[in-house]
Amino acid sequence: MVYITRRETFSASHRLFNPELSDYRNDELFDKCNNIHGHNYILEVIVVGNIILETGYVVDLKILKNIISKTILEKVDHKHLNTDVDFLQGIIPTVENLCVAFWNQLVNKIPAGKLFSIKLSETENNFAEYRGE
Ligand code: NI
Repeated sequence: MVYITRRETFSASHRLFNPELSDYRNDELFDKCNNIHGHNYILEVIVVGNIILETGYVVDLKILKNIISKTILEKVDHKHLNTDVDFLQGIIPTVENLCVAFWNQLVNKIPAGKLFSIKLSETENNFAEYRGE
């Protein structure tokens, strides 16, 4: 089995806020992140599979790129993650929740091989990884 990665970037705004909690509690939990701000995210989609003899590929990265673009990037790039994205409605857009949400959007769309992992970096120091477990 070989693991192959496609890396993408996008920019989006968000605030960390739980509408079910008081302003006081939101401030306490999320502090500055409760204010609207933006990140330059790095998304890594890792697919695992056997190399196909005919092509030498596990998955054609051009096809994978197009799937990621259509499924994720077109919906989130330069958007406000709290309000603008259909599949993020009702989700606090932390890096953890975004990672799981992106997995759920992509998991059944990979044509060859299978989705192994989604990694999402929000800052140089903060990133999440999800493997569907
Ligand atoms: Ni943030």
